[in-house]
Amino acid sequence: MKRSIAWVLLLVLLSSCGTSNTPVEIGSADIENESAPTENVTTEVNNVNVPENFVLIQGGSFQMGSPDSEAWRGADEQQHTVTVSDFYMGRYELTQEEYQELAVYNPSTFSGANLPVENLSWLDAILYCNVRSEKEGLTPAYAVNGETVTWDRSADGYRLPTEAEWEYACRAGTTTPFYTENSISAEEANYYGHYPYQIEENYFSQGNLDTKPGEYRQTTFAVGEFSSNKFGLYDMHGNVGEWVWDYYGEYSTQEQSDPPGPASGTLRVYRGGGWNDFAKNMRSAYRATLAADKGSFNIGIRLVRNAAAGSGSITASGPQSETVSGNGKVLIAYFSWGGNTKGIAEEIQRQTGADLFEIELANPYSSNYNTVLDEAQRDQKAQARPELTNHVDNMEQYDPILIGYPNWWASIPMPIASFLEEYDFSSKTIIPFCSHGGGRFGQSLTAIAKLAPGATMGNALSVYYSGDSGLSDDISKWLDDNGVKKR
Ligand SMILES: Cc1cc2nc3c(=O)[nH]c(=O)nc-3n(C[C@H](O)[C@H](O)[C@H](O)COP(=O)(O)O)c2cc1C
Repeated sequence: MKRSIAWVLLLVLLSSCGTSNTPVEIGSADIENESAPTENVTTEVNNVNVPENFVLIQGGSFQMGSPDSEAWRGADEQQHTVTVSDFYMGRYELTQEEYQELAVYNPSTFSGANLPVENLSWLDAILYCNVRSEKEGLTPAYAVNGETVTWDRSADGYRLPTEAEWEYACRAGTTTPFYTENSISAEEANYYGHYPYQIEENYFSQGNLDTKPGEYRQTTFAVGEFSSNKFGLYDMHGNVGEWVWDYYGEYSTQEQSDPPGPASGTLRVYRGGGWNDFAKNMRSAYRATLAADKGSFNIGIRLVRNAAAGSGSITASGPQSETVSGNGKVLIAYFSWGGNTKGIAEEIQRQTGADLFEIELANPYSSNYNTVLDEAQRDQKAQARPELTNHVDNMEQYDPILIGYPNWWASIPMPIASFLEEYDFSSKTIIPFCSHGGGRFGQSLTAIAKLAPGATMGNALSVYYSGDSGLSDDISKWLDDNGVKKR
């Protein structure tokens, strides 16, 4: 079943005339004029009225992206000069309390008024921005027509930051991997604290680490509990990643002002890392990505507003992902080091009768656990593409492709990258399944999306090690969710 955004159409506006317990149902088409404006509370900074709980970010120029010398940087973080104009940015990630004032359904995995709302799709976020603008008498920033979203850059309503605005605000003048400079501890941000920056290459001898392993809270945290950055923004690293406006794509290296990102694409960007991310994936320059109609317990939002009207409008009408399986034969392709993923793949095969393909290496990894930990992080750091010995005959006949792998260092093992680059997955459906030791997907879905940007991503399945007695049922449900036929 496709993850429906229909519930968003149940967003409600509270009446402003004393019947605040009576929600009014609205749809995306009739958002306008549903309620009288409420007054915006503002504080004055340098003669500028700043909305309550927002910070005036004074624009300027910066180097967006990371220098070649930054450990664990991605090739997609190419540095370039960007200028951003003044804007207002939420001091905190949007809370569940704020979200539920306007939405009848709270999608969050963790529950708490002051926890950030998470598990909302990019499209949900866009609609929330508009409904809140309407409620407060502001001009909505977005026009939503089916799957096409047009951003009116002159509107004063709530919106998502651009990727450039987000990074500028996060850095707050710093040029280091984090706004806390060269490392970040679990006392400074809510993340997968067992894995501080550069733990990968220092796992067995941690003397060189600036920050030692710390607490992994395994949940979101009330917003604003850690120190802010120099701009007064909280949780820019960690807690939840934050959707931004931009499609994911290669940066232009031209000098730019207020870039809105690529004109089209299939994936949206989210930034900053969350409670479930390793420190390397919380860096100021790190770019995570997911389809616009998907959500995650690791992704929330932070609102911004124009401080001065921008100009023009941007229409974004790239294809949205559809969680429906393709029309061809089903292929289950997997890489497994210790056998857990193999067992899961075999159970999927038993239920579907699909073709099973094990991804094998010309030079297999060591069978010693400590050695493979080291080999795997080195391959990942070098973005190696290990040679594969076997190949899928006639890949054209397959759609969907169910791709299985163990979570390795919060991402995919590099043999999966070799596999994804070998074939053309454009317009096919990829449905990932991941065996893990507590880190769920890590950033593996981002890695797959970047390697197969033309593919549609189905709903992914994560399994703790080899799964428990519920594995067979979990797989059955997951196949149904994705519309994959069982025998
Ligand atoms: C090199 C390596 C790196 C790993 N990194 C992670 C990780 O970052 N997060 C996690 O949850 N589990 C991690 N694990 C544990 C595996 O994901 C887990 O044991 C999985 O069930 C292995 O699947 P397999 O038996 O198919 O290889 C790692 C294991 C290895 C060997």
